Amino acid sequence: MTPSAIVKYLDQYVVGQDEAKKVLAVAVYSHYKKVAKARSDTIDPVKSNILLVGSTGTGKTLLCETLARALKLPFVTADATSLAQTEFVNEEIDAILQRLLEKADGDVARAQCGIVFIDEVDKLKAISGQARGASGESVQHALLKIMEGSPVRLKHGQYIDTTNILFICGGAFVGLDQIVQRRVGKQTLGFGADIKSKKEFKLGELLLQVQPEDLLKFGLIPEFIGRLPVIATLHELDEDALIDILTKPRNALVKQFQKLFEMDGVKLKFAKTALSAVAREALNRNAGARGLRAILEGSMLDIMYDVPSRQGIKEVVINEEVITKNDPPLIVYQKEAELA
Ligand SMILES: Nc1ncnc2c1ncn2[C@@H]1O[C@H](COP(=O)(O)OP(=O)(O)OP(=O)(O)O)[C@@H](O)[C@H]1O
Ligand SMILES: [Mg+2]
Repeated sequence: MTPSAIVKYLDQYVVGQDEAKKVLAVAVYSHYKKVAKARSDTIDPVKSNILLVGSTGTGKTLLCETLARALKLPFVTADATSLAQTEFVNEEIDAILQRLLEKADGDVARAQCGIVFIDEVDKLKAISGQARGASGESVQHALLKIMEGSPVRLKHGQYIDTTNILFICGGAFVGLDQIVQRRVGKQTLGFGADIKSKKEFKLGELLLQVQPEDLLKFGLIPEFIGRLPVIATLHELDEDALIDILTKPRNALVKQFQKLFEMDGVKLKFAKTALSAVAREALNRNAGARGLRAILEGSMLDIMYDVPSRQGIKEVVINEEVITKNDPPLIVYQKEAELA
């Protein structure tokens, strides 16, 4: 799969984030080229593990999951938070590789070219004053070995070499923007009526300028940062992007609701203003696209409850007031003539 084919596939499910898509596609493509070349030349490939930085709900996890589907490679996701909470970090890490092997149907060679996505790596930041054994820092140390590439012995005595496994790490890195800002020395606070929107715009922009030294200040150890040479930043999602997320992806929320209503023979329509209202409410919640589903489901509950037990409904129109004031939606009934 070429980089552009990968991006094209991602576009079907992930709205925007063009930069991050490109970086991922190129990195994955060159990774596998290097692997193929190294096999024939017996040269060790240089690994380009990837760090995805972006606020909550901007699509980091979605991007990686979609990427895995596109590539049809063995792919596993691990959560750094749970690694940080266990006493048995090394066992947990071995278990990740074990799962990768299972995803490859037990084919060691295939598993050795797989992808491991470690989410929430920002939760591994070193906290000063914390005992080292209990800290995320020790998990970072434990991860170094497999990220660099080494043979790991799994529980059934099989060895898996992690040299050619691509690691993608993701995290929201709350507060990283301020660290970048201090370095860049920019003033973020705007004046006037739209202080908030100005500030948000700058936040996303700041994260685009992340350098390894900022991650160091954030609390990642240098060796860990050094193993993540590619950094891709995801943008904050604005109102238009959120509306697109509601309507455009193949499995978009609006499409899902429409399908549900279709099963009852009802056409469901959303006014543009209603979609904007959902997007604005999601922006207020500061959780990116994550809030969209809850907001929409909350507003749709009453009508979802009513429709199946009412006869003769032809159309339901969701307008702005349904979202903002919890008003009932507009219901169009089939004409008597149509019924007869
Ligand atoms: N760019 C996007 N395009 C389409 N859907 C998106 C996008 N960003 C987020 N979403 C939707 O929002 C939800 C949350 O996204 P996701 O889990 O990828 O966020 P995240 O960046 O991993 O956040 P977190 O840091 O909290 O883990 C998902 O249901 C996803 O469908
Ligand atoms: Mg996530």
